[in-house]
Amino acid sequence: MKKLKFGFVGCGGIANQKHFPALAKLKDKVEMVAFCDIIPERAEKAAKQYGTPDAKVYTGSATAYKEMLKDPSIDVVHVLTPNVSHSQITCDALYAGKDVMCEKPMAINYAEAKKMLEAYHKSGQLLTIGYQNRFRDDSQATYKACRNGELGDIYFAKAHAVRRRGVPTWGVFPDKSKQGGGPLIDIGTHALDLTLWFMNNYKPKMVLGSTYQKLKDNPEANMFGPWDPKTFETEDSAFGLIKMENGATIFLEAAWALNMINPKEAQVTLCGDKAGAEMFGQAFMDKGYVVFNRAAHGELEETRPSEAGGVFGFGANHVEQRDAEAQQWVDAIYKRKEPLVKPEQAIVVTQILEGIYKSAATGKVVYFDD
Ligand SMILES: NC(=O)c1ccc[n+]([C@@H]2O[C@H](COP(=O)([O-])OP(=O)(O)OC[C@H]3O[C@@H](n4cnc5c(N)ncnc54)[C@H](O)[C@@H]3O)[C@@H](O)[C@H]2O)c1
Repeated sequence: MKKLKFGFVGCGGIANQKHFPALAKLKDKVEMVAFCDIIPERAEKAAKQYGTPDAKVYTGSATAYKEMLKDPSIDVVHVLTPNVSHSQITCDALYAGKDVMCEKPMAINYAEAKKMLEAYHKSGQLLTIGYQNRFRDDSQATYKACRNGELGDIYFAKAHAVRRRGVPTWGVFPDKSKQGGGPLIDIGTHALDLTLWFMNNYKPKMVLGSTYQKLKDNPEANMFGPWDPKTFETEDSAFGLIKMENGATIFLEAAWALNMINPKEAQVTLCGDKAGAEMFGQAFMDKGYVVFNRAAHGELEETRPSEAGGVFGFGANHVEQRDAEAQQWVDAIYKRKEPLVKPEQAIVVTQILEGIYKSAATGKVVYFDD
């Protein structure tokens, strides 16, 4: 089997925490041959650590990746740059004949995401978005229960993405022009992606949203160290009420900083007419678990994961989310089949998030009618 040749645009945080180490475990299928970053040292370090001996480095400008795309031997490109450039780089890579994994969120806004969807359809290449939380054990179990009909009609859900003090202090996260927003677009995106996927409902009707910038001037006790209030341009918390066409309601809560005591990130509460499902634990660290609840045998019952299967909260065959994501992506490329995270799904997440921002700015309900 021919090894797939991978090129990377952006060699920062997520490249080093997720993409490089996960793909490095697939040595019999993957070769990392090209590394691009505006900052030369980042691309060079990555090439040295993860690249083939003849791996190439592209750097020096925001458009250096275009040279990389001219290399016909590269099969796959991962777009790992700030949100503002996701759409342009992804479209260029698709039109250059590459399969693309783009980091979440799909794009900075709905119009940019639509360009990506068009490029995906016109190019015939594969496109996926980096929503690795779908690959967690608790997410997979929840998804199976939803598809089996065990929850019945899911008419209410809560998408949780709240940190007490978890403002990212690296990269350009609180820079509105580069990221498009704060915690809503950064971590709210994961929780909403999970929720829509569990509900298998991609038809939003309207949203009402609020955003706040209440805690940004006190960078005390942040998990990533103190942030700089002067560069904190985005909201520090955001909330949205989403009504779907079929009548279902989703409440989305997203915060990098919020005065509360039960942080929950990339987790979902689902309420169906047969049963409910609620996620707990440290899901982001692969230590999350789901509790199903229902009325049965004249009582209210809860079903929790058992320790007997392995480490608490894990199935015996636990694979880390980043590794599972990489494995299914490489498999989809070899088999020319759709990856688990489809662009038609990810674009709806971006559409809803944009609706919440618009509603917060205007104070009005935003209706989706296209
Ligand atoms: N899946 C997840 O859970 C997750 C977690 C963190 C970040 N992300 C996403 O990953 C993306 C990057 O975040 P990060 O934390 O790695 O940020 P980062 O700032 O650490 O890394 C981004 C890198 O891209 C480089 N870059 C910017 N524009 C470029 C261009 N035009 N060409 C080449 N290189 C360019 C920067 O120099 C930087 O090294 C964001 O979209 C973010 O939302 C996803």
